[in-house]
Amino acid sequence: MNPEPIPRAEVLPSVMSADFLRLGDQVAGLLKAGARIFHVDVMDAHFVPNLTLGPGFAEALAAPVHAAGGLIDVHLMVERPGPMVDAFAGAADAISIHIEADPHPARLLEQIREHGCLAGLSLNPGTPVVAAAPLGAGLDYVNLMAVSPGYAGQSFRTETPGRVAELRTLMPDVVIQVDGGVDIATLPGVRDAGADWFVSASAIFRAPDPCAAYDALRSAAVRA
Ligand code: DX5
Ligand code: ZN
Repeated sequence: MNPEPIPRAEVLPSVMSADFLRLGDQVAGLLKAGARIFHVDVMDAHFVPNLTLGPGFAEALAAPVHAAGGLIDVHLMVERPGPMVDAFAGAADAISIHIEADPHPARLLEQIREHGCLAGLSLNPGTPVVAAAPLGAGLDYVNLMAVSPGYAGQSFRTETPGRVAELRTLMPDVVIQVDGGVDIATLPGVRDAGADWFVSASAIFRAPDPCAAYDALRSAAVRA
């Protein structure tokens, strides 16, 4: 599904830090609290050192999320992600691939759109944001990593708001996602720099009350 118009000012719970034995309850609670886009981190132990969620997980998560009118955003941290685009497309509404993971990102973005999904391009902290600009016509969102991808719970890199502002100037209409280290203290800086989608794992799922934590982040995400 390709949502029209694309929602803005959204907080995306990253389910890699959910309590997997209570996942259904946690997702139901977040849907009730207003969460509309759930972020699925896919790691292959090659592009990043960690190994995480597969297509079967995304399909299980998509059932309640789609039933509630929500969306699934799949973040592919995998080398040569082409086959995984196809494997996740049934569950996903949005898929991002890393520009560093394949020499032909434009072809992959096209492949994502052919599945009817929003096409996203993720950039590691060390990749200049200008790298996204030539691909602009073929993408719907840019995911600026605020940590080196691979793990939840890392510290937010302080250069990120500046990178968001630079990308906003280069690409005025693109949806900008920020992923990594987003919490109630770091969100306002990237929001004010022009970001739209705020991914958060630890600040939601490691909080005593994940729904209350989501709610506080969502309030901060909506520009005054
Ligand atoms: C990091 C992942 C993130 C991660 C964020 O490699 O792409 O989505 O889950 O975790 P926090 O919010 O804890 O930094
Ligand atoms: Zn992610």
